[in-house]
Amino acid sequence: MANSNNQLQTAKKAREDEFYTQLCDIENELRHYRTHFKGKTVLCNCDDPRVSNFFKYFALNFEILGLKKLIATCYKNNEPDLFSMNTCEQAVYIIYEGDKNGNRIPDPSEMEVLPLQGDGDFRSAECIELLKQADIVCTNPPFSLFREYVAQLIKYDKKFLIIGNQNAIHYREIFPLFMNNQVWLGYGFHRNCAHFITKYEDNASDADHREGMIRVPSVTWFTNLEIPRRHEQMIIYKTYNPDDYPKYDNYDAINVDKTTDIPCDYDGPMGVPITFMYKYCPEQFEILGTSTDSMPKGAPYVASKRIYERIIIRKI
Ligand SMILES: C[S@@+](CC[C@H](N)C(=O)[O-])C[C@H]1O[C@@H](n2cnc3c(N)ncnc32)[C@H](O)[C@@H]1O
Repeated sequence: MANSNNQLQTAKKAREDEFYTQLCDIENELRHYRTHFKGKTVLCNCDDPRVSNFFKYFALNFEILGLKKLIATCYKNNEPDLFSMNTCEQAVYIIYEGDKNGNRIPDPSEMEVLPLQGDGDFRSAECIELLKQADIVCTNPPFSLFREYVAQLIKYDKKFLIIGNQNAIHYREIFPLFMNNQVWLGYGFHRNCAHFITKYEDNASDADHREGMIRVPSVTWFTNLEIPRRHEQMIIYKTYNPDDYPKYDNYDAINVDKTTDIPCDYDGPMGVPITFMYKYCPEQFEILGTSTDSMPKGAPYVASKRIYERIIIRKI
C-alpha cells in the first residue's frame, strides 16, 4: 500500500512537472525586463528547445534584446522537437547565437545541437557548467524541484526570472530569500492564475477551460532582476483601532486580513496575508518572518481561533 501510494505521489509530481508555458504569458512578463538582457547569455535549463516557448521567445527576440548567447537543455530527451518524453537517459543541449543568414528568423541550421553525457538534469555537473556560463536563467522549472532549483541559482549567484507556485513563498528555504531581498515577485499572471499547455486533462470549470491547457491557480514569477514595480509604495489609508485589528493570542502583532487594509498609523508588527508579497516594497516595509516560523504552535490564533498563515511585517 505504502509502495503504491509512493508510486501515485511520484506520478502526480511528474504530471505536475509537465506543464508548458504559453508564449503570451512569457511576453507579458518579459516586456518589463528588456533592459536586463543586452549582451547577456540566457540559459533555459528545463526546456526542450523547439517545444519550449522560453527558447522560442529568446530566439525570436535575440536581436531585439541584444543577447549574446542562448542555451537550452532538454531533460531526458534527445529529440529537441518533442515534448519531454522523459524516456531517454541521454539528452542534448542547444546553442543559438543569433541570426547568421540575415533572414531575421532563427533557422534550425543556425542552432547547434550538442550531446550531453547524462539526462540533462539541471543539477548534473555538465548542466552546472552551462549554468556557470549564463548571466540570466529564465524558465518554468519543475514544481516538485523548486526548492533545489532556487538553491542552485543562489549558490551560483545567478540572475533569474522563473515561474513557481505562490505557496513556495512560505517554504522554509525560500522565505529567508524574500526577507533578505535576494528574491522578489515579478509582475505575475492575471489574478495569479495561469493556463499551461499540457497533455493532461483539465478539471477547470467550463468558463475557464481552454482546449489543450490546464488552469493552475496561485502561480507567479520569482526574480532577482530589478523592476520598477518593486519600488512602488502601496497607498495605505486605513487607521488603526483594536477592534478591526486584534492582536494574536500567541504573538505580539496585530492581525490584518487584507493587504489593502494595512493601517497607515500603526508602527508595530502586523500579520498580513501572503498576497502582501505582490505589493511589497522594501523602502516601505520590513519583513520580520512568517507565522509558521515565528509563532508558538506555528500558526496565528485570534480569539482562540486558528487563522490562515501570515507574513509578519513592520512599516519602515
Ligand atoms: C513545468 S515544466 C515547464 C517546461 C518549460 N520550461 C516551459 O515552461 O514550457 C518543467 C520541465 O522540467 C523538466 N524537468 C523535470 N525534472 C528536471 C530536472 N531534474 N532537470 C531538468 N529539467 C527537468 C520537465 O521534463 C518539464 O519539461
